[in-house]
Amino acid sequence: MEHKHLIKICRDVLDLNRNKDHTMPAPHLYPHQWLWDSCFTAIGIRHFDTDRAIREIDSLLEGQWSNGMIPNMIFDGAKRYRADRNVWLSKSSPYSPDHVATSGITQPPLVAEAVMRIGEKLSKTKRVAFYKKVVPKIAFYHEWLMTERDPHEEGLTLQIHPWETGLDNSPPWMGQLHEHSKPWWIALLEKLHLDGLVSLFRRDTRYLPPGERITNTEALIIFDMVRRFKRKSYDITKILHRSLFCIEDVGFNSILARNNSILIDLYKEARMKMPEGLGQKIEKQSSSLQKCWDAQTGFFFSRDFITHDLLKEPTIASLLPLYSGAITKDQANRIVECLMDRKSFGLNHPIPSVPMNGANFDEVRYWQGPSWVNTNWLMIDGLKRYGFHKEASMITEKTLELVNLHGPYEYFSALHGNPLGAADFSWTAALTIDLLSD
Ligand code: GLC
Repeated sequence: MEHKHLIKICRDVLDLNRNKDHTMPAPHLYPHQWLWDSCFTAIGIRHFDTDRAIREIDSLLEGQWSNGMIPNMIFDGAKRYRADRNVWLSKSSPYSPDHVATSGITQPPLVAEAVMRIGEKLSKTKRVAFYKKVVPKIAFYHEWLMTERDPHEEGLTLQIHPWETGLDNSPPWMGQLHEHSKPWWIALLEKLHLDGLVSLFRRDTRYLPPGERITNTEALIIFDMVRRFKRKSYDITKILHRSLFCIEDVGFNSILARNNSILIDLYKEARMKMPEGLGQKIEKQSSSLQKCWDAQTGFFFSRDFITHDLLKEPTIASLLPLYSGAITKDQANRIVECLMDRKSFGLNHPIPSVPMNGANFDEVRYWQGPSWVNTNWLMIDGLKRYGFHKEASMITEKTLELVNLHGPYEYFSALHGNPLGAADFSWTAALTIDLLSD
């Protein structure tokens, strides 16, 4: 297909999914605004409508809590979504905004990346004005992550819910979830084979085959976690007190490290002074990624916040330190070696979210095997910055080939390339435009 034609298809999807100031990831399956989705989407939209890209970010920042947190979801206010809003009931926290209902957890902090990329498309004056407006809000968010989410000042931020990583059902998280977070009543329902009742309330399995999504038991556990957080008014001290588990996710922390360094650049570009102490925190966060490195296996892994044990199961998150820019050249070489390994990550349609030889590889299940365009985009960016241009071009070509053949689907089989998940998915469309415009 001609580039022009593919760009047109992707633009049409982004127009179709538009809802006032923001873009829904996929109107039926995901009808609200999501944090990292909006960042990826704005990165594509900036190529044809900078005002709309700015509005996408402004609308996301409208959801920011008064303690700095940016929530992973900002809910559509329509009556038909009342149940979604009530599950979270963000107003049970004194920090939630009055004018919009949101979730009470966050998602990978990619706002600085999106803002910098939009800035590249603006005139100098417009760029500085845009940065001046949004940069303090991003800094406030990063400060929140590096204080509230790092209570022991270890440099790594912790995540309290699998959705915070963006890789919802990634195996190390699901393993921990089953081990530490299953209350007796869910175990009982499972034993009585009544866990299927939850499918009455699930939106995803209404539109997609259950084999592609989390299991009913996992859905119940996830729902129960939200119930607990809400009961504790989203107060992190209360949540951590007697918490069953939380994880310092290596993917999340890698994305934070890169976005921290972009934040420093944004301050410079806008000729603004960084808040006192932020620079030191950023430095510490970046160097702390090394705590996730396992020299024995040659992988980065997420860490259990309580025991400090590494969760030694490689996934796409193990490769994301390449995007951080905070690792050594040797470590980058090792990641590239894994990317090319035909038995693990180097499949026909890369990059699988779990390596093929991983214990929990599943060709079609969401973040347990399929390839995703957003993580490919992050890896392509990291590859380029570490000088691996040949590999970056290869992943770019293979990514575009999939979208060209099937359209902008949510994810694809890494083995056979067949499309999976939602059709007409916003970040796939937006990042395809970005990769084609490069
Ligand atoms: C799924 C993805 C998550 C994304 C959301 C909206 O839950 O796992 O990363 O933000 O959908 O697209």
